[in-house]
Order: sequence, then structure tokens, then C-alpha cells
Amino acid sequence: MKAFTYLFVFAIVWSFLNPSNTLDTITPIQSIRDGDTLVSASRRFQLGFFSPGNSKGRYVGIWYTKSSGTVVWVANRDTPLNDHSGVLKVTNGVVILLNSTNSVAWSSNTSRTAENPVLELLDNGNLVVKDEKVDGPANYLWQSFDYPCDTFLPEMKLGKNLVTGLDRFFTSWKSTDDPAQGEFSIRLDLRGLPQVVVMQGDTVKARQGSWNGLRLNGYSGLTPNPLVEVEFHFNESEVFYDYKIRNSSVFTRYIINPSGIAQRFTWLDRINRWELFSTTPADQCANYAFCGAYASCTIGNTPVCACLEGFLPKSPKAWDSVDWSDGCVRKTPLNCSDGPDGDGFRKYTGLRLPDTSSSWFDKTMSLKECEELCLKNCSCTAYGSLDIRMGGSGCLLWFGKLVDIRDIAKNAEDQFYVRLAASELDHVEKKRRSSKKKLAGIVIGSALYVLGMIIIGLVTYIWKKKRRNQAMKKGNIGKECDNVGRKEDIELPIFDLTAIANATDNFSNNNKLGEGGFGSVYKGTLLEGEEIAVKRLSKNSGQGMFEFKNEVILIAKLQHRNLVRLLGYCIEENEKMLIYEYMPNKSLDSLIFDQTKSKLLDWHMRINIIAGVARGLLYLHQDSRLRIIHRDLKASNILLDNDMNPKISDFGLAKSFGGDQGDAETNRIIGTYGYMSPEYAVHGQYSIKSDVFSFGVLILEMVSGKKNRGFSHPEHHHNLLGHAWRLWIEGRPIELIDNSVGDFSLSEMLRCIHVGLLCVQQRSEDRPNMSSVVLMLSSESLLPKPRQPGFYIDSPEANSSCITPCSTNGITFTLFEGR
Ligand SMILES: *[C@@H]1O[C@H](CO)[C@@H](O)[C@H](O)[C@H]1NC(C)=O
Ligand SMILES: *[C@@H]1O[C@H](CO)[C@@H](O)[C@H](O)[C@H]1NC(C)=O
Ligand SMILES: *[C@@H]1O[C@H](CO)[C@@H](O)[C@H](O)[C@H]1NC(C)=O
Ligand SMILES: *[C@@H]1O[C@H](CO)[C@@H](O)[C@H](O)[C@H]1NC(C)=O
Ligand SMILES: *[C@@H]1O[C@H](CO)[C@@H](O)[C@H](O)[C@H]1NC(C)=O
Ligand SMILES: *[C@@H]1O[C@H](CO)[C@@H](O)[C@H](O)[C@H]1NC(C)=O
Repeated sequence: MKAFTYLFVFAIVWSFLNPSNTLDTITPIQSIRDGDTLVSASRRFQLGFFSPGNSKGRYVGIWYTKSSGTVVWVANRDTPLNDHSGVLKVTNGVVILLNSTNSVAWSSNTSRTAENPVLELLDNGNLVVKDEKVDGPANYLWQSFDYPCDTFLPEMKLGKNLVTGLDRFFTSWKSTDDPAQGEFSIRLDLRGLPQVVVMQGDTVKARQGSWNGLRLNGYSGLTPNPLVEVEFHFNESEVFYDYKIRNSSVFTRYIINPSGIAQRFTWLDRINRWELFSTTPADQCANYAFCGAYASCTIGNTPVCACLEGFLPKSPKAWDSVDWSDGCVRKTPLNCSDGPDGDGFRKYTGLRLPDTSSSWFDKTMSLKECEELCLKNCSCTAYGSLDIRMGGSGCLLWFGKLVDIRDIAKNAEDQFYVRLAASELDHVEKKRRSSKKKLAGIVIGSALYVLGMIIIGLVTYIWKKKRRNQAMKKGNIGKECDNVGRKEDIELPIFDLTAIANATDNFSNNNKLGEGGFGSVYKGTLLEGEEIAVKRLSKNSGQGMFEFKNEVILIAKLQHRNLVRLLGYCIEENEKMLIYEYMPNKSLDSLIFDQTKSKLLDWHMRINIIAGVARGLLYLHQDSRLRIIHRDLKASNILLDNDMNPKISDFGLAKSFGGDQGDAETNRIIGTYGYMSPEYAVHGQYSIKSDVFSFGVLILEMVSGKKNRGFSHPEHHHNLLGHAWRLWIEGRPIELIDNSVGDFSLSEMLRCIHVGLLCVQQRSEDRPNMSSVVLMLSSESLLPKPRQPGFYIDSPEANSSCITPCSTNGITFTLFEGR
């Protein structure tokens, strides 16, 4: 017993003398001096004294053990000490910071007393004063999470306790050298439907929107956010947002920086650094009410502001001189009567909901009841669902002007209905409110109209097809190769065989660049010094001639900076050759899959290549005169010029599909396994979506530096697609990233992986087309959730058994899917 007492006293004295010895708790008889630290139980966070940046002032703060420069909370942010003599103590249930003259420089407060109060730094970064005897969050006498600074950590709350009135919001530092309260804050605005706003002083600077059941309406990041799960809590006693990390070993923080920009950072162990994961868009449309009332803001449009349907610029002159703040006014005033000539609504989707600060809501009403209620009150200008899940529920009404509407994404489910005078609505919408008889008439009328259009379309199609067939017969290259040279068909120079032989040193092996099923490719130098690549078809390749013609015809008519340029061709003495511009950096596969060479391709180059290939494909699919499906897109068919700009090559398998987009079928399945979409490999069906699939494979290969085909992993039998998918749904897509990419923007990287997964989805109709892909890669728009990829198992046994839906594996996967 005595021994125990000694031990106990010793322990206390020891810890008193040496508080930096990784204590996470201090009692009233202990204290923390400048130089000491409190360390949370599993060493995630530390508390101690620090001076930020160039400041000389001493502050008490909490930072990450991993990153001591990253301060997440400051106690005396407005009252720095000017020397190193500060002491932090806990007495009477409050924490106090004493300066050299023993005056209180800062203190916490509490409304309760406790017998044995202690100060503890928890592992989530929360500094709490609690009664030693009763723990549990409900019994904290005080906690730093209730008085946030600029950092929103997992498990913190943004919002208000409606019982005690405690409002938790985040305020920026004045500057990186000064943690004092800055101008900017992120708060929950409780007027109308609660919405998250960024404020500068007392004015709203930007809105992040309100909760729609799934996320903040207007959130433009990844969905579902692979990193964190945001939740909204709203009842009589509390209204707040918080978030959890999906993988507890990940470090992430959300801050409002001294310039008013909200940013999320994630710690990457691999490079020992914080990476920017997302940032609030800092474009024009992010400025609150940039376009004024009844107008929507769309980045990329000229002008960025446009009135909603049924509205006109209020001051057309100002509008023309790029000042949109006056916004728009109604073309026709509302009637406000409930009669047959009363008002109606126009539906909007893909827009962020207008400012809800003057809104009203009800969780139980249906959309129909909501519409009726809106019509009854003349100052109600719009309505919508409160919760978009499962087809929508609840009612949200807007009163007065509708402001701060911006374009978010075409695939966002959010929608709202804007009230308009009956005369401003088109026929169908107006009559929605009139008798069923009329409605039936409209339905029959539209049906007839549609039928008519189909017949007209069909006739035109047949006629066009006939004409095309005739045209093709006329322009056919025919069996004699000579015909290829007919100038009216192909406007391409013909090269002389001797010139080519000279240029390539008589097709010497030293000049050979590569070999394929068709024959070989040689490097050559023309007399004028121009470097060329010569694709020489092997003499005995029977298929070769067909593909040769195909390629000459197709590529001769194409011109885009992301397509390899055909300079000419040569047909002589059984030789068939295509002459291309020479690409000094060879093909992508020679770099990306090579351990040492892949370091030459940093992330910046890779993203540039991905974007270039996307534009090239978009041109092929949509913008070129012929509309072409490449059918053999792969890393070895992407050539790189001097500046590492990508050029799509090898059009041997390409098909023109003219105007009609429909799927085509073929019995001859040629292409490259690993890049082939399931519907093509299995059923021989190809469409532009087969190229999209190959493009998705290419993206994932670029991100990971691994080949899809032949990919192996110790833990599973999936190919690269399956591996990427697994990591994605397990919330750790970061592990896919190639070690040799160097520095990168995490958000850009994750967006790429996300787009890659969208492109390789099992069902071709789920895959985006290239114009969406280009948009997705270049904007911050909301992305849909990817579904399971096609062909994600590549082991020899599993390959054949798992072709179409792969149900058994599908089930295991969907279990992981979060919101
Ligand atoms: C200590 O704080 C008191 C009260 O804020 C202040 O008057 C005093 O000047 C401070 N002493 C020093 C040395 O900073
Ligand atoms: C505690 O202090 C904060 C800020 O100094 C103040 O807003 C709050 O009202 C105080 N609470 C109590 C219970 O005294
Ligand atoms: C309100 O919500 C909070 C957080 O979800 C919960 O802890 C609390 O019990 C709820 N209160 C009531 C009265 O429902
Ligand atoms: C969480 O992340 C770590 C490190 O990235 C990883 O090792 C671990 O497997 C992940 N856990 C889960 C459940 O995904
Ligand atoms: C408003 O609607 C009522 C009833 O339908 C109609 O009698 C009246 O003429 C309308 N007024 C205007 C200004 O359109
Ligand atoms: C219409 O709604 C506004 C805002 O809620 C309210 O102030 C007004 O009293 C309502 N008018 C009628 C006629 O109900």
C-alpha cells in the first residue's frame, strides 16, 4: 500500500516535472509552459505554444504531430503574448493562459462547475475540459470544437444549438502571420432553409447552398465524395453540418483561408505533404448574386449571365456593358388569380437552387401540394422539393426575387419551378393545369406529331442511304490500287518509292521504329530534311490492303492537332506505304509502362495527354466531316510530338458511321484485348461508346502507370479496371496513383480516375460521350457516380466466365458503396 502511494506520488511528480512526456491530460496541479506540449493519445495532435510565420507573438494552439506548421486551432488568437513566459492551466473548470505578470491573457468559460476538472487533448483534435469522473461529450464543461477558428475538422459542427444559442462557425486568420479573426467566415445562415454561406464581414460573399438529402445543393465536387461523408442534422434542438472521414487513417481538413477561399486539404504520406483536394470555385459565378435577380450564371457562356425564360434584362444598357447586377424583370406581370388564366410554372434542372434566405419549407408536403400552396400566395415566386432522394419529397417555397442561380451540372437532380404568367408558358406547360380532355388532345396530337417525324426521318434516312451507297460506288477505290490515286477522291501527295527507299536507307533495320500485324514502321529523312515515319504494309497481308485503303480515305480527310498527320502514300510494285509526320517521342506505351522512362511523364504532361486524346476523339466522333469510330485506341497508338502533345494514330480499323449514331455490328472482331469494350469483344457491337471505353482504360493506365491487360495484384484476380474500381469503392483511390507522376493536384487526379471509371462502365449507355468527357475533365462540374466497370476480371480462368453482368462479384462490390 505504501509502495503504491510512493509510486503514485512519483508518477505525479514525474509528470509534473516533465509534462512534455507525451501527456494528453493535465490536472489543476499541472501546467503547460512555453516549450511543453500536450500530445493526444495516439499522437495525432499536439497542443503547445507557437509563433506563426514571421510573427513574434506567442500563441497557444493545436497542430498535427505529422505537420507541426499546420495549426488547426488557436486559443488566444486575438491576444498574443509577447514573450516566452506564458503558462496554460486548468482551474475551477476553466482553462486560463497567464502572461509573465500572472494576468489572464485568455480563458475559456463554463456554465457549470466540476469536482475534478481536467484538461485533455483528444485524438480528433478537440481540447476539452471535463470532469474526470464523468466523461462523454455531453458532460464536457468546455470544448475547443465549440469555438472553432479557421479549420473544420472531422467531427466538428458547423451550425447552431437552438437551445443554448451556441453558434459554431469558422473565421479566417487575418493573414498567415496573424491568427486574429479575419474578415471571412463560413456559417450556417438560418434565415429560411439553412444554407452554408461564406461571408465577408456582414455580407454574404458566396453560397455553398442548402442540403438536398444527398449533399449541399451547389456542391460541385466528386460524388460520392471519396474522402468524407457529409451529414446534415436538423431538429428542434440543433441544426448543423458535420462530416466523417471514410478511412480513419486519412488526415483531412477544411479551412477558410485569409482570402476567403474555402479549401480541403489531405495529407499524403507518400510525399509528406498536404495536397489541395478541393476548393470553392473562385470564378465569377461564385460571387453572390453576380447576375442579379431572375438570371442564371454559366461559366463558359458569353455573356455569363442570362435571364431565365420569361424575363428580360432590367437595364439592357448596363447588361450590354457587362454589368449584370441589376438582373432581370418579368416580361409579363403575374396574374395572381387562381383561375384558368392564372399563373403557371417552368421547371429548371441542373441549376443551383436560388438563395433560400427568404424561403419557407415543410418536410411532409408533396410537390403537388407545394405547387398549390405557392399559387395561393402572390409573393411566392418558385417552389421545389426539399429532399431530392427517391423522386423528391417535402416542399420549399421561395418568396420575392430569385437570386444567385448558377449552372452546376446537367446531371444534377436538383430542380425548381419558377412562377410565370400563363402567357409566358409554352402550350403544354400552361395546359398542365387545365382539363384532362385538353390534355388528352395534346397527348394524341404530340403522338401524331412524333409519328410524323419518325416517318419523315425514315424516308430521309433511306433516301440518304441510297444516295450514299451510290456515291460510295462511284468513289470506290476499286480493286486496282491505281484508283487510290484519283485526285478527286483523295487530295494527298503520292510519294515515289525510290524517294522513300532513300529516305529510310533502303528500309534498314536501324531505321525501324516498330512492327505490327500490318507490317513495319520506319523512320526516314527526306532530301529536304523533313523527318517522316513510313508505315510499310507487309506484302502478304491480305487484310492489309483493306485497312490501307480505309486509312488513306479516312485520315486524308481529317485534320486535328491531336491526330497524326498523313503526309502522303505510295503504291508501287506491290508496295503499299503510308507516310506520316515523324513523332520524335514515339508512342505513349514506350514511356508510360517503362519504369525509368515513365518518370519523364510527370502529372502535368499526363493530364495534357489525356486532355489531348479526349479532344482528338471528340473530333473524330463529332466534329469531323466523316464522324469516325477509331476502334483501336490504345497507348501504343498515341504518338507524342516534340512537346509531348499526343496524336492519335493508326486508323486501320476505323469506321465512319456517317450521320446515324446507332450501334453497328461486325463479325470480324479485331482490336486489342484490354482496351475492347465488353459489347464489342463479346457481341461484335461497336459504337462511339466502344472508343469511350478504350479511352477510360487509357486514363486509368496513365494514372497508374500499369497496363490493364496482364495486370496482377497479390490480393485479387482483377485487372486494372477491377483494381481501380475496388480502390474507388473502398475510398482509397489515391493508392492507384503511379509513384512516378511527381507532384500533382489531388482533386485533378481524383477527377481523372472518376472520369476513367465512368468511361469503362459495363453498359455502353452509362458511359458518357466524348463531349461530356471533355467537359468533365476541364471543369469542376458534378460527376455522376460510376457503376461497375465491364471486363474487370482478367485472369485466364475468370476471363471467359465473367463477361456480361458478373452478378456474384457485383453484389460484393455494391456492399461497399457509400453515399
Ligand atoms: C499581462 O496581461 C495584462 C492584462 O492583459 C497586461 O496589462 C500586461 O501588460 C501583460 N504583461 C505583459 C508582460 O505582457
Ligand atoms: C463563453 O465565451 C464566449 C466567447 O468568449 C462567449 O461568446 C460565450 O457567451 C461564453 N459562454 C458562457 C457560458 O459564458
Ligand atoms: C437532434 O439531433 C441531434 C444530432 O443528430 C441528436 O443528438 C439529438 O438527440 C436530437 N434531438 C432531438 C430532440 O431529437
Ligand atoms: C485506409 O487507408 C490506408 C492507407 O491509405 C490503407 O492502408 C487502408 O487499407 C485503408 N482502409 C480501408 C478500410 O480502406
Ligand atoms: C387574371 O385571371 C383572371 C381569371 O382567370 C382573368 O379574369 C383576368 O382577366 C386575368 N387578368 C390578367 C391581367 O390577365
Ligand atoms: C404570403 O407569404 C408571405 C411570406 O411567407 C407572408 O408574409 C404573407 O402573409 C403571405 N400572404 C398571404 C396572402 O398568405
